Amino acid sequence: MIEKNWQSFWDSLDRLLEEGEVIVDRPQGTPQGCFPQVRYPLDCGYLALPNSEAAAEMDVWRGSGAPNQVSAVLLTVDEHNLELNRSLAVGVDESELESVVDFYLQIGLTAIPIRRRQESLRLLTERRSVRRFLDRAVERALIERAIELACWAPSAHNEQPWRFVVVSDLTMKERLAQALGEAFRHDLLAQGVPPEEIHRRVERSRQRILSAPLAVLLCLCEEDLPPGMTERQRKGEWEMGLQSVALAGGQFQLAAHALGLATVWLCAPLFAPQAVQNALNLPSAWQAQALILVGYAAERPAPPPRKSLAEVMLYR
Ligand SMILES: Cc1cc2nc3c(=O)[nH]c(=O)nc-3n(C[C@H](O)[C@H](O)[C@H](O)COP(=O)(O)O)c2cc1C
Repeated sequence: MIEKNWQSFWDSLDRLLEEGEVIVDRPQGTPQGCFPQVRYPLDCGYLALPNSEAAAEMDVWRGSGAPNQVSAVLLTVDEHNLELNRSLAVGVDESELESVVDFYLQIGLTAIPIRRRQESLRLLTERRSVRRFLDRAVERALIERAIELACWAPSAHNEQPWRFVVVSDLTMKERLAQALGEAFRHDLLAQGVPPEEIHRRVERSRQRILSAPLAVLLCLCEEDLPPGMTERQRKGEWEMGLQSVALAGGQFQLAAHALGLATVWLCAPLFAPQAVQNALNLPSAWQAQALILVGYAAERPAPPPRKSLAEVMLYR
């Protein structure tokens, strides 16, 4: 029960953020009014909400992370004025949160941060495949952080055979969507699908790619795989490389989710590796495995059901 409340508490705060606008009136580095020797460690402002003045009285701290996710609520006790105040920390990481706590301390207030427990176990069940994105760019620092975190995935012989191609340029996205669309059309034709249906499905897949702020192509770099002496060994090494790339892809999705981004894994490049390589002018050893669309979620899909433990495990 408490677990559920916890979740809806943070969801409600995210919705408040979504409905309002953070107005930064004390940018990072500004001297504090009563204590000019103390400077604001991060951008600070207030939340302007259409029908609430109370929200405007609450400080909002903005960190370098996702601008749409509340990372902590800070409670401060002002013993002098006998007040208990609250402020929101948005997209704030642990060191940024510490700098805010320290700021309050320097102006004579004790602050207690209540952190959103985006801890590992919760992330595993909360991540969803999101197929509709807001028309809002993804900050370069965020996508690079997600890729950096993905690169901590385990890999066979620690060979790290994953490669990530971040496609944000519209012309490049068009070329990619075009290449995948043609391959898809070719396959549907071969299956005898009627032309109108082919047109509808190809266009839908094209639009999905074009409407995502970022498309991240996940590749396997063949050059990183050990040669293997026999055919059987080569096959084993190839499969281990593939497993390693898949692990990095999953870890990327989780990292992106932890950073407030949404993703969906598309298998389309698997059916047109050469066309994708040509469209994006990739090194010949980079073999496309999946396309992961990334952006800010414009939907909150219900979790698809999972098989029960009894169906997926055995004790021996
Ligand atoms: C290897 C792989 C291929 C996938 N291919 C597609 C795809 O082509 N199109 C799509 O919409 N979703 C695709 N998905 C997403 C799955 O449909 C999704 O993970 C699954 O329905 C469970 O939903 P969840 O991710 O929200 O838990 C793929 C996922 C994986 C792991």
